Amino acid sequence: MNQIDENLFCNDLPSKPKPEIGTILVTGATGYIGGRLVPELLAREYRVRVMVRSASSVAERWTDVEIVVADALKPDTLDLALKGVHTAYYLIHSLMLGKKNFETADIQAAVNFRDAANRQQLKRIIYLGGLGDMETPLSPHLRSRMRVAHELKRGKVPTTIFRAAVIIGSGSASYEIIKHLVRNVPILTIPKWACTKCQPISIRGVIKYLVGALEVDATAGKLFDIGGDEILTYEQMLRIQAEIMGKKRFFISTSLMNIGLYSYVASLLTPVPVPLVRCLMTSCKNDVVCDDEDIKKFLPFKTLSYREAILRAMSREEQDDIRTRWSDAYPPAHELAMKLHEVKEAIRFTSSYTLETDKSRSSLFRTICQIGGKEGWFNSSILWRMRGLLDRVLMGVGTSRGRRSTKQLRINDVIDFWRVEELVKNELLLLRAEMKLPGKAWLKFTVSPTLDNNNLLTVNAYYQPRNLFGKIYWYVFLPFHIFIFNDLIKEIAKRS
Ligand SMILES: NC(=O)c1ccc[n+]([C@@H]2O[C@H](COP(=O)([O-])OP(=O)(O)OC[C@H]3O[C@@H](n4cnc5c(N)ncnc54)[C@H](OP(=O)(O)O)[C@@H]3O)[C@@H](O)[C@H]2O)c1
Repeated sequence: MNQIDENLFCNDLPSKPKPEIGTILVTGATGYIGGRLVPELLAREYRVRVMVRSASSVAERWTDVEIVVADALKPDTLDLALKGVHTAYYLIHSLMLGKKNFETADIQAAVNFRDAANRQQLKRIIYLGGLGDMETPLSPHLRSRMRVAHELKRGKVPTTIFRAAVIIGSGSASYEIIKHLVRNVPILTIPKWACTKCQPISIRGVIKYLVGALEVDATAGKLFDIGGDEILTYEQMLRIQAEIMGKKRFFISTSLMNIGLYSYVASLLTPVPVPLVRCLMTSCKNDVVCDDEDIKKFLPFKTLSYREAILRAMSREEQDDIRTRWSDAYPPAHELAMKLHEVKEAIRFTSSYTLETDKSRSSLFRTICQIGGKEGWFNSSILWRMRGLLDRVLMGVGTSRGRRSTKQLRINDVIDFWRVEELVKNELLLLRAEMKLPGKAWLKFTVSPTLDNNNLLTVNAYYQPRNLFGKIYWYVFLPFHIFIFNDLIKEIAKRS
């Protein structure tokens, strides 16, 4: 086995690696769970293939991984992706498509995948879904997780189904919502619909079960509920978080707040945008508790307590070592995800700001890669924050979304209301706007050498208006751009 990495979750897993079984396919590898699973499988010397919709999103993330581009909603792309695969992890989830579309997309993706797995004669599928009592009316989110499990199971390939409730770890949406609510709200109202029970599990525990299932043949074709050892209410979870953070918080029960309003307010106070908050909060109506502990017969290890999981998540944050985050996955089919080079018409709305400096390319680029998040946008931070607040009010992603790491950047990372589209070390950083805009926008930072051994630092803004209002928007904000971008490049040079 590779050198032991203390940060890996599966070092003490009771099962033994069996890399000889052949190719393991990880779908959803750009997502929160998939992105943590891949390095664990690699460390156990499995031959890993990742299935992604855009190769650039993982191209430089892992070495020794085979990348295959396929879309579960396009059945003709799946056979090649699944060819020669022994076991596939099914971690596809379309929550980001929004409440109108995600359920249908999730079911269709599962059906297509199941059929392709049958055709390619896979030996196993391992799926992680959600907990919930099937006898009660479930939220659309939990219902969709159950239906996906049902569709996968209808195929010929033995499918292991894991059902989990809230997953706690650095970068998980649930953890970030709880933490920010506790941090930002002195008086926390607990709505009646959230007085349900939940059995949270640490991300570490989830990954260990996913890997362990691959290594214990007897888990094939079975359904397992996985959770930590405690059953808690959401109020208890908030109280534990407050205690750990040393915050004195008051709790009030209320029957007045509906989920839509509560989610909207919560999204303004946390980094997580309203569609995702609403989706998770709607699931708070259901008890999410394990029906049994059967998995412990096959994989007997101690799961972390809720408190321990929180402490580990906070420690990862302090070390600036968040491996994956809820904001990583983004549906490329979404119109916002159009890349700059994919725009067919010439972009007419552009502005460019340049500065020549004697600072080195590497230090200029390092500073560029640290903008946003806690670092802010230098002297114009307040303007960016106001724009971010407006975006949140309009139910956009806002600037409070922050970033995964203060220092490191990789393709697909978010920086406030931007997403990294292209990154060429010491040369170029291209950001795509995900804020509410009457058009599409990009921001490109470049560093290039000049003839007299200096460097040229440039920021280009590109904008494609959707309509007349979009054009007016551009001209209204142009004077602000002149101030903001000139200040930005000056500060980058100064801090480099
Ligand atoms: N995260 C949690 O707290 C949690 C809790 C309980 C259960 N779970 C379960 O764990 C599983 C994984 O969740 P997650 O949080 O890791 O999800 P996630 O971060 O939202 O990632 C979803 C993944 O699905 C991929 N995907 C979406 N549509 C696709 C399509 N049509 N074809 C191919 N790939 C597609 C996305 O790839 P792109 O990059 O191409 O968009 C992304 O990698 C889900 O079943 C979820 O219910 C998660």
